[in-house]
Amino acid sequence: MAKTLEEVVSEIKNRLDIVEVVSEQVILKKNGNHYWGLCPFHKEKTPSFSVNPQLGIYKCFGCGEGGDALSFIMKTKNMDFMDVIKDLAQKYGIEMPVTFKKSEGTKDLKEQMMQACEKAAMFYHDLLINHKSQEIKEATEYLTERSISREIIDKFMLGLAPKNYTTLYDVLKKDFSDEVLEKAGLILQTKEKKGYIDRFRGRIIIPIQNENGEFVAFGARALSSEQSPKYLNSADSLIYNKSRLLYGLYTAKDAIKAEDGVILMEGYFDVISAQAHGVENVVGVCGTALTSDHIKLLSRYTKSRKIYLSFDTDSAGQKATNRGATIIREAFSGLGNIKQFDESYISTSDDKYSCEIRVVCPPEGKDPDEFIRTVGAETFKQIVENAPLLIDFQINSILKHKKEYKTPQEKVQFVKDFIPVLLEINNEIIRSEYIKMVADAIGVNDKSLESEIRKAARLNSLQQVEDKEVKQIVTKNVSILEKTQKNLLSVFFVADSHFSFAQINEMIDNSYFSDETLINVKSTIDKLICTVNNVKELIEQLYTAYIENPEIQQVLTDLINIAETFTNLSPEDFQSVIEENINRINRCRWEDEKEKMRNLYKNADEDDTEALKIQMQLRDKINNRIKSEKIND
Ligand code: UTP
Ligand code: MN
Repeated sequence: MAKTLEEVVSEIKNRLDIVEVVSEQVILKKNGNHYWGLCPFHKEKTPSFSVNPQLGIYKCFGCGEGGDALSFIMKTKNMDFMDVIKDLAQKYGIEMPVTFKKSEGTKDLKEQMMQACEKAAMFYHDLLINHKSQEIKEATEYLTERSISREIIDKFMLGLAPKNYTTLYDVLKKDFSDEVLEKAGLILQTKEKKGYIDRFRGRIIIPIQNENGEFVAFGARALSSEQSPKYLNSADSLIYNKSRLLYGLYTAKDAIKAEDGVILMEGYFDVISAQAHGVENVVGVCGTALTSDHIKLLSRYTKSRKIYLSFDTDSAGQKATNRGATIIREAFSGLGNIKQFDESYISTSDDKYSCEIRVVCPPEGKDPDEFIRTVGAETFKQIVENAPLLIDFQINSILKHKKEYKTPQEKVQFVKDFIPVLLEINNEIIRSEYIKMVADAIGVNDKSLESEIRKAARLNSLQQVEDKEVKQIVTKNVSILEKTQKNLLSVFFVADSHFSFAQINEMIDNSYFSDETLINVKSTIDKLICTVNNVKELIEQLYTAYIENPEIQQVLTDLINIAETFTNLSPEDFQSVIEENINRINRCRWEDEKEKMRNLYKNADEDDTEALKIQMQLRDKINNRIKSEKIND
């Protein structure tokens, strides 16, 4: 029987794992029962974004964003509820109710684009291996020259796009619309807009698969040096985002997990050579700079966040190494210190460092591809195994230039290059050792170098203080009354309260709430507690009820977090929490009321009798209040 939408949603919710969902966008680190990371909803340098896997929710203590897995997907991907549900239903193979089945839509388009890419990849590959022509012969020779065996061609589905203008188009137009082929980046409109031609012509085709193995784009290598550009890449599209995709990840995934580390390279053929020769945990960027999204992607596969940078050995490659290292450090900032010295003999804990960056710099060859082909994969593996930590690589590569700096003025300049690197060293002992070493090497006094570094450190910490101040401003100022009302309402979310929902409801009158959102939430709770069995279900149902209302979702998350502070209470203590908050609400209200009366009294001073009346009322109220407080005590 077909499922109802509610059933589909609840099935999806059961399958979703909040940590997994959030990890797709945020690098998380476990601390106690929670996970922490940098908030994706506001800019920050220290993590105030937390994930609670027990309750399936997230919350940022900096900006207040919060919700469950579904709302996280909606917010970060900017999708509406039904689209997320449809997507996930498809992912998990859950059939949607008939009325919600997709007809024509972007979803369909994406699927067709991927199918078109897959067909194109197969077509180009088949052409290269199963057909004969002068062009194909040349392409095969080119690959042989590069030591690309038939096995490698098959493994990476390499192909050939012939020079002709419409080879691919003529074949694929039978199955796909022009729109799909154009959006997939396979064809282009001619200049005169008279029709379409193939985008890739006269090139070796390198199909690009996403993390799930779907074909989404292509890199196309020129066959001769006259052709420009050397590589023609698919542009970003609905199914392809260069700054979020890493070439080779689909085939490297298991190896990255197994080795708990990943080697990052620059070129398609670097990755191909490495993976083909048994260095499996390798991925590459696709004709673009490394981004923090790439790093987020990788951090899902390596627990200890061990990244080897293996870029080209030329100066451009070395610059890319430093830029890459900065991106990685930023992506992991706030998760702790970067590993700066080998102390595996002291501790084997995976989570000790935010990340470990090592630099692979083979002594020969312009890039890993060349090195592996000429020297061999085994030697490459050894170089990886002995790769220096980033800090040592950096100091070493600056020191290489020491001969260029001779005069005192030049040395001052040279020292400036070291400061940011030395400043990064967290451990005092190691820092001073490195300072001595560097001072020695460049021929300056180590005390002066140290004092320069201190100066820079002071400037740095000033910056950090400023950052903190900004953060404090972000935190909202909540009135005491609102906070107390929240405390009171939160008791519904205390998992081990010893009381049933009905009993709790009995203790809490709706009239205690004056905040509009809280009134709204309370009325939904009133409805839900007749049907739900436990706190987890209540939370799930509430998030679903407010799925289209991010503000209320935030309040829900607040409530759930407050409730956590009320766990492990004895029944008596739990009751007194409720009573205390009710008393506080009453007191706040009373203050409000007094204030109002006083105002009335002030304004009524022209009319004696009216003023007197108010004065009497105020007195009565105060009397009543004192009496009732005495009873309560
Ligand atoms: P390289 O110029 O180092 O190329 O660019 P390579 O990988 O060593 O190529 P081969 O060995 O000569 O074939 C590194 C990467 O930069 C991107 C590609 O992803 C390439 O693999 N690139 C380079 C482009 O996107 N377009 C270009 O024109 C050149
Ligand atoms: Mn290269």
